Amino acid sequence: MHNYINSILTITPVMPVLTINTLDKIENLFDALIEGEIKAVEITLRTPCALKAIEKVSKKYPSLRIGAGTVLNVKDLKSVKDAGASFAVSPGCTKKLARKALEAKFPFLPGISNASEIMNLLDLGYKIFKFFPAEASGGIEYIKSLRGPFPDIMFCPTGGINEKNASDWLGQKNVLCVGGSWLVPEVISSYTEIKKRALIASSLKEKIKN
Ligand code: 3PG
Repeated sequence: MHNYINSILTITPVMPVLTINTLDKIENLFDALIEGEIKAVEITLRTPCALKAIEKVSKKYPSLRIGAGTVLNVKDLKSVKDAGASFAVSPGCTKKLARKALEAKFPFLPGISNASEIMNLLDLGYKIFKFFPAEASGGIEYIKSLRGPFPDIMFCPTGGINEKNASDWLGQKNVLCVGGSWLVPEVISSYTEIKKRALIASSLKEKIKN
């Protein structure tokens, strides 16, 4: 299994989860994130302009890893690949979707929230997962417990993570990076505020590896 998703998740402690409602001023948003030293983002497929946004920013910001989130099925996977995304993220997963990503050799971060889901994807060779929704599914205690049966599995927890608890999550041995929408909430946002949030996020203490 290719290791590309690992190389994306290790370049940034925080991956902003972006829901883009308009392409207007999208450059402002991305310039601010880049100035804030963010290296990878997830753009969710939750708005009509999401694919267009992926297409636009993938071309314009080649130094940034642009991933697509809320990828729910094989059709979504093909669309985001065609739009130029460099990886895909899903909130949960089906074997069909996981197999297709492997077949297409497309970097894929499948979502899980329990041990059975991990086991199903382990069978296919996946070893890195999005833990979603992280806080609501049991939080830090839960991810700590997963280390017992799955000592080699790594996670990108997302869902309920914010500026206050991100460091605690990043301090867990089985956490590669965290994802979250707090950097760019729907209602803001000035260039300065996004850049400020991005700088705080990107400078969160580098994870101490075992
Ligand atoms: C996601 O799709 O990963 C989540 O909606 C992000 O969760 P958050 O809004 O709680 O950060």
